[in-house]
Amino acid sequence: KKVVLAYSGGLDTSIILKWLKSEYGCEVVTFTADLGQGEELEPARRKAEMMGAAEIVVEDLREPFVADYVFPMMRANALYEGLYLLGTSIARPLIAKRQIEIAHATGADAVAHGATGKGNDQVRFELGYYACDPSIQVIAPWREWDLNSREKLLAFAEANQIPIAKDKRGEAPFSVDANLLHTSAEGKVLEDPAEEAPEYVYSRSVAPEAAPDQPTYIEVAFERGDAVAIDGEALSPAALLTRLNELGGANGIGRLDLVENRFVGMKSRGIYETPGGTVLLAAHRGMEQITLDRGAAHLKDELMPRYAELIYNGLWFSPEREMLQAAIDHSQRFVTGTVRLKLYKGSVSIVGRRSPHSLYSQEHVTFEEDSVYDQRDAQGFIKLNALRLKLWNRQQQGG
Ligand code: ARG
Ligand code: SIN
Repeated sequence: KKVVLAYSGGLDTSIILKWLKSEYGCEVVTFTADLGQGEELEPARRKAEMMGAAEIVVEDLREPFVADYVFPMMRANALYEGLYLLGTSIARPLIAKRQIEIAHATGADAVAHGATGKGNDQVRFELGYYACDPSIQVIAPWREWDLNSREKLLAFAEANQIPIAKDKRGEAPFSVDANLLHTSAEGKVLEDPAEEAPEYVYSRSVAPEAAPDQPTYIEVAFERGDAVAIDGEALSPAALLTRLNELGGANGIGRLDLVENRFVGMKSRGIYETPGGTVLLAAHRGMEQITLDRGAAHLKDELMPRYAELIYNGLWFSPEREMLQAAIDHSQRFVTGTVRLKLYKGSVSIVGRRSPHSLYSQEHVTFEEDSVYDQRDAQGFIKLNALRLKLWNRQQQGG
């Protein structure tokens, strides 16, 4: 028996590695992906070796992560419950898909992950696994073992010679997930939603009040809905998002304190930092303001919450997500041009937009004299729109 484990190199997945070996007596293939979490991969490789992994796979997936997952999602302006940019949700399908591919390549019959039985991630990983291989066996240690407290976990680690990194702070959040799009933190000091999160929870942005007193102006170029350059410099998707993270983080942009509804039914409180993604979303909307027709734009905004919920609930690899994606991608054919943005103390404002496909007609909109629009046309337009209001009013007044 052989299992491919999604391995971060942290304490929990190291414990899982040992546990899989002792409990299932199976060979463990570790899979560690660089999604831009900002951690070295070599320590994870060495640790996997030390823990007795049979095979070790380490991959840099930053470019496919941004190009094939983050960017398609950005075309939709996706936000879950109005605020969450889905930084963790969008990373899970890629990890799941690669795990299955690695299982096939190494002759493994099972996959395992380190998500708990209380959250969204277990659902996302496993729906991803089954969508890519209907007959794969899934092992979710958190739902099986009796290591259900921090104490028992640490005792198991000690008994198995698993190094325990000293918490930099005793109060560090229970669970942190980071990639090129965001960092999220949940648990421990954050569990009371009435209490403001302490500053040390934030790791990739300065506080807005500590950001520079001078605004930063940047120009982002788009081609068919995807960002392709900053200030005239063409950048790969991952390089572009990295740059936006630096610019956004330095200006205190993209912090979010949210109580959200998990798919499994409970509410949870999280702290998110999505500096580059927040800038990108604003820029994309700025580009769409002049390039999308009203009907297309409004329909897109109606579809967006459905699309976001699919990603949140782990249904990236579903026929309905693909249907929506096709419609969204079609809408982006002319979303090309440049947007100028002002970054200042936690806020991002669009201050200028330009496109070869702009639908904006100054000739029509100007308050000065024009020769293309006849203001008298508006009279009949309003009259017919008012007809049903007049009939309704008459009926309400008693006929
Ligand atoms: N609540 C967020 C979500 O469901 C973040 C989850 C973070 N996951 C983690 N393993 N720390 O997308
Ligand atoms: C977890 O349960 O492992 C993290 C939280 C979540 O997936 O929602």
